[in-house]
Amino acid sequence: FGYVNYLVEKTRGEISTNLIDGLRKLEYRGYDSAGIAIDGDKPDETLIVRQIGKVAALKEEYDSKDYNQDVSFVSHAGIAHTRWATHGQPKQINCHPQRSDVNNEFVVVHNGIITNFRELKTLLINKGFKFESDTDTECIAKLFKHVYDTNLKNGNSPDFNELMKQVLFEIDGSYGLLVKSIHYPNEVCATRKGSPLLVGVKTERKLKVDFVDVEFPDVESSHDISAKKEDLGLLPVAQGESSLRHSQSRAFLSEDGLPQPAEFFLSSDPAAVIQHTKKVLFLEDDDIAHIYDGELHIHRARKDDNLSATRAIQTLELELAQIMKGPYKHFMQKEIFEQPESTFNTMRGRVDFINHRVNLGGLKSWLTTIRRCRRIIMIACGTSYHSCLATRSIFEELTEIPVSVELASDFLDRKSPVFRDDTCIFVSQSGETLDSMLALQYCLERDALTVGVVNSVGSSISRSTHCGVHINAGPEIGVASTKAYTSQYIALVMIALSLSDDRVSQIQRRHEIIEGLQKIPEQIKKVLTLEESIKSLCTEELSTQKSLLLLGRGYQHATALEGALKIKEISYIHSEGVLAGELKHGVLALVDDQLPIIAFATRDSLFPKVINSIEQVTARSGRPIIIKNEGDTGISAERALAVLEVPQTVDCLQGLLNVIPLQLISYWLAVNKGIDVDFPRNLAKSVTVE
Ligand code: G6P
Repeated sequence: FGYVNYLVEKTRGEISTNLIDGLRKLEYRGYDSAGIAIDGDKPDETLIVRQIGKVAALKEEYDSKDYNQDVSFVSHAGIAHTRWATHGQPKQINCHPQRSDVNNEFVVVHNGIITNFRELKTLLINKGFKFESDTDTECIAKLFKHVYDTNLKNGNSPDFNELMKQVLFEIDGSYGLLVKSIHYPNEVCATRKGSPLLVGVKTERKLKVDFVDVEFPDVESSHDISAKKEDLGLLPVAQGESSLRHSQSRAFLSEDGLPQPAEFFLSSDPAAVIQHTKKVLFLEDDDIAHIYDGELHIHRARKDDNLSATRAIQTLELELAQIMKGPYKHFMQKEIFEQPESTFNTMRGRVDFINHRVNLGGLKSWLTTIRRCRRIIMIACGTSYHSCLATRSIFEELTEIPVSVELASDFLDRKSPVFRDDTCIFVSQSGETLDSMLALQYCLERDALTVGVVNSVGSSISRSTHCGVHINAGPEIGVASTKAYTSQYIALVMIALSLSDDRVSQIQRRHEIIEGLQKIPEQIKKVLTLEESIKSLCTEELSTQKSLLLLGRGYQHATALEGALKIKEISYIHSEGVLAGELKHGVLALVDDQLPIIAFATRDSLFPKVINSIEQVTARSGRPIIIKNEGDTGISAERALAVLEVPQTVDCLQGLLNVIPLQLISYWLAVNKGIDVDFPRNLAKSVTVE
């Protein structure tokens, strides 16, 4: 998170509050440690405050310093970070901002991983730099100083963005990066590659343009030709050339051309910006945003002919209330209880329940191409992957197109063959998961048609795919995904319905599903009334278990996997989703009178087989927790530990209802164990590293 005020007087107290508040909104993305960098009392002084733990710990650390909070700054640039450790344990020295030297000449906050940091570190150590941390980020800060000093030695005084370009040329990997420097007071330079970054703009001025031009004059940069990666001394400046020629930028200009007060908020997520402004610009990979003198300039680190030369200022539709907890104790609980509404929003304006039609605006002109494709590949990670598994079967049934479901990382590891007549559907809540993003690039390079099923509007996946559907679940902040799952599920079913719109043989089935969809929000409301009984089920006896199994088959296999993931993620109990048919092939060995087993026994064609599996469990003294349909007397509850009843719906939609008790079970197990549900250990909401 970064905050720049220009001709808007702010005290140090206000600036630090802004930065720390920004971090609070981003905390769900990572919460191992946090830090900020702001100006000191003397010119050329940058103060860095860092602390391990959550943002609250940083705030305490900051308050314990004796900084004068009343000093005011007419213009100022501050940067801040909350971390999910990749390189280096969460200890104070590894927190961001990382610095170039003891004078804090360059300070850097960074999301992502610098893959060539070992080589860079060795080179910089050879040039006399002393490293303090185990992070890859530190080499960026030190590289800035090295490149800056080299420029000076050669008689150059580069602009901040020019310097950034030279530094970027040396680094490989992924990054969302903010840099502040005593050599460029009140300026921030930011860039991204594979990690999201946006700039919020708050100004009274009338914007002359509502977009930023990024121009690419037809001049070859000497940078690309002559710079040698192995030798950091040989940057283009060494030949007196400026790599700035590679691109130019236009920025916001006031109509009269006079300086006007403005504030800028840099963030990896709109959630931290929304309380200040709704006007945002999403940066593209390799964009460099340079903020100075109340203006925002966009430059390009490298030319990309496929990319638009304009960047639009968008107005976020997000409301502050959507990212507040309201009366709930945790975001996760709020999001579980939002599902009647979020599932309705996914369908709103798209499903015509009277005429049994589905109209997806973002797919309309692509339907014929998709119908003709030779196969559909669904690609995702984590919970999003489970929503693909949950809908694969109905996709195949309705479209008669073969569907494969892939975990993004594995898909890439295998370098799975992809062809131009494939349709690749990318499902992602955040739209920023790097594994999925890399798989998307892989498919784009092979000319496949790419479809995004994404929650975050403006995210990398939604912008990079050819077409797609936003799931419209509203912001999801709890690290354990809940409402995104049910909305992804519905969005995928809607896509299958759209694709089969022209199939006469499927009319009956389509009607049945559409009628089923209509009832889902109300039925979810009903399932949510189970909370009290689930709360009393999740006693100490259950929450202190070391292990737990979930049994499901057919449509409910995905529910079992998703339920197991939820329980693992937030209650730290080892849990495994088992395909009920596989029970007898090994897993049965684990069953005794202690191991809790949750079995999905709602009605569908596989019901008798599920009952067999439950019998196999109870015959071995197992005491299952059974999830069944309301009033179903076809299943004996005699030997069960508990029975939870959910309404019945169409077989392919039943998973939408069955998953809710599991979300609640994982939630209450975690709460009873005293776990901070929204911040489970070691996890992050949006994983923008490989
Ligand atoms: C992380 C989150 C999971 C999420 C997965 C995929 O691991 O902790 O909750 O399911 O990423 O995220 P995406 O945003 O792509 O759906």
